[in-house]
Amino acid sequence: MAETQRHPFLHGLSKHRGAPPTVVVIFGASGDLTARKLIPAVYNLGFDNLLPADFYLVGYGRKPIPDDEFRALASDAIKEFSRRELNADVWSRLARRTSYVAGGYDEKPAFDKLAAHIDELERQIGRDVQRLFYISTPPSVFTPILLNLGASGLAAKHLGLPHHSKVIIEKPFGKDLASARALNETIRSVFEEHQVYRIDHYLGKETVQDLLVQRFANAIFEPLWNRNFIDSVQITVAEEVGVEKRGGYYEQSGCLRDMIQNHTMQLVALTAMEPPVSLDAESIRDEKVKLLKAIQPLALGPGGDVARAQYAAGMMGGKAAKGYLEEEGIAPQSATETFAAIRLSINNWRWQGVPFYLRSGKRMARRVSEIAINFKCPPGTLFAGSGRFDIAANTLSFQIQPDEGLSLILNTKVPGLDTRTQPVKMNFRYATTFGSNTPEAYERLVLDAMIGDGTLFIRGDEALASWQLYTPVLESWAAAGREGMDAYAAGSWGPATGDALLAKNGHVWRQP
Ligand SMILES: NC(=O)c1ccc[n+]([C@@H]2O[C@H](COP(=O)([O-])OP(=O)(O)OC[C@H]3O[C@@H](n4cnc5c(N)ncnc54)[C@H](OP(=O)(O)O)[C@@H]3O)[C@@H](O)[C@H]2O)c1
Repeated sequence: MAETQRHPFLHGLSKHRGAPPTVVVIFGASGDLTARKLIPAVYNLGFDNLLPADFYLVGYGRKPIPDDEFRALASDAIKEFSRRELNADVWSRLARRTSYVAGGYDEKPAFDKLAAHIDELERQIGRDVQRLFYISTPPSVFTPILLNLGASGLAAKHLGLPHHSKVIIEKPFGKDLASARALNETIRSVFEEHQVYRIDHYLGKETVQDLLVQRFANAIFEPLWNRNFIDSVQITVAEEVGVEKRGGYYEQSGCLRDMIQNHTMQLVALTAMEPPVSLDAESIRDEKVKLLKAIQPLALGPGGDVARAQYAAGMMGGKAAKGYLEEEGIAPQSATETFAAIRLSINNWRWQGVPFYLRSGKRMARRVSEIAINFKCPPGTLFAGSGRFDIAANTLSFQIQPDEGLSLILNTKVPGLDTRTQPVKMNFRYATTFGSNTPEAYERLVLDAMIGDGTLFIRGDEALASWQLYTPVLESWAAAGREGMDAYAAGSWGPATGDALLAKNGHVWRQP
C-alpha cells in the first residue's frame, strides 16, 4: 500500500479530493525557504502522486535565472533537503514542467509577462489551470506583489469558477495590529478572503492536527477538558539555536513577534476552542477567533502577565555559547527579547480561572515544542503522608517537535509487597507507530491550498485578534527600552522573571 494511503491525516481532517490543474508560482524562488521547504514539498507531493496531471511550477524573482539553471537549483535543493532521495522518474516529470520568469516585484510589465507565460501554458494543454501564488519573499515586498497580482488580472483570473486563483502568504503577517490591518486591506483590495491562505507552518505539523483528533475523536478527554478538571496549561516552544546569521532580521522581530504571536497562539486556540460544528475551515476558524477574543488583555509592568529576557553567555552541549549582545549584527544595547513568557486568562465558561502559560526562547536547554495539560490532583485522603506515595498530577502532553507524539503521566503502584506509588509516563510516538517518513508540514499545506481547503490556514480576523492582544505589550516594551529586560544563561530553561509568572499561582515550569 502506498505510504500516503496509509497515512491517517491524508484521510483525516481534510478531504483530499485531488487538486485541479494548477500552476504554482513562487515569488522569491531563489530564496532559502524555497530551497529548504517549498521545492522539496512539491517534489514529495509528486512522488506520492498527489499533484494533478497538469501541474506546473514557475519560479519568479528579480535575478535573471535561465530555466535550466533554475531546474538545476531545484534538483540540488531536493538532494539536500527532501525527506526522500531524488528519484529520476519523479524529478524528470516535474522538471519538464518547471520554468522561471525574471522580474521585479513592483514592475507591472513583469507581471504581465508572467500572466502571458501562464496563458501560454493553458493554451498548450488546451484547458484552464488554477494559479496558486506563493509569496515567499521578505515582507517588505508583500504589498507590491499583491497589488501587481491585482493590476495584471492574475488575482481575478477564473474567479467564480472552482479553479480560481489563490495566494499563500508567508509569515510575518504584519509586525503589529496596524500593519496587519493594512496588509489585510491590501489583500482584500485584490483577493476575496476565500482565495487567501495565510500560512503558519505549525498548523501543518502532525501533532498540531492530532490535537483536534485527540480532543474530539476520543470520548475520554472532552468531558475533562475544562476548569473543573484542568489546573493549568503550559505551552513551550524552545529552540537551542541562537540568532545564527539572521541577527539583522531578528533585531526587527524578537521572540514575541517571531514565535508567541503566531505559532504559540495557534496552539492555544486549538487547545482551548469550543468543539466546531463541523471540520470545515470556517467552522474551525470561527471557534478559534471566538477563543482568541475571550482572552483577557494582558497586565503589563512589574507583577503583570508578561516577562522578557535575552540570553547571556552560557554552555550549549558542553561548549561555551555567546550572549545575544555579542552576536553578529546585534546592537550593543539591543532591547530585542530572545525569550518571552506570558500568562493568559481566558474569560469564558470553560476556562475561567485556568492559567495558560506560554514561553518561547532561543538558546534554551533543549529544542522542544509541546503543549502540557496539567490536570487537578485527586483528593489527598488515601495516598498521603508516610513518604511511600509519590503522587503527581496527571499531565497529558502533546510533543510537537522533535519526536512528535503524545504522553500521559499516571500514578502507578510500584511492584512489590508494600503499597508504594510512583508516576509513570505512557508514550505514543509517531515514528514508532507510523514510521518516521511522515509528510512535512509544507507538503500538507501546499496540497491543501491547491485543493482549496483553508482549515490549516489563518483567517484575516484571526491574525488581527492575536495582534490585538500583543500590540500593547510590544508598545510598552518599545517604550521601556532595556528597562525590565531580564537575562538567562544560554543552555538554561529561561530567566527568573519567567518562573515568577507561575510562582504567583503556585506553579512551576515543566522540564519537557
Ligand atoms: N527561511 C525560513 O526557514 C522561513 C521559515 C518560515 C517563514 N519564512 C518566511 O518566508 C519568506 C521567505 O523567507 P526566505 O528565508 O526564503 O527569504 P530570503 O531568502 O531572504 O528571500 C527570498 C527571496 O526574496 C528576494 N528578496 C530578498 N530580499 C529582498 C528585498 N529586500 N527586496 C526584494 N526582494 C528580496 C530574493 O529573490 P530575488 O533577489 O531573486 O528577487 C530572495 O531570494 C519570509 O517572509 C520569511 O519570513 C522563512
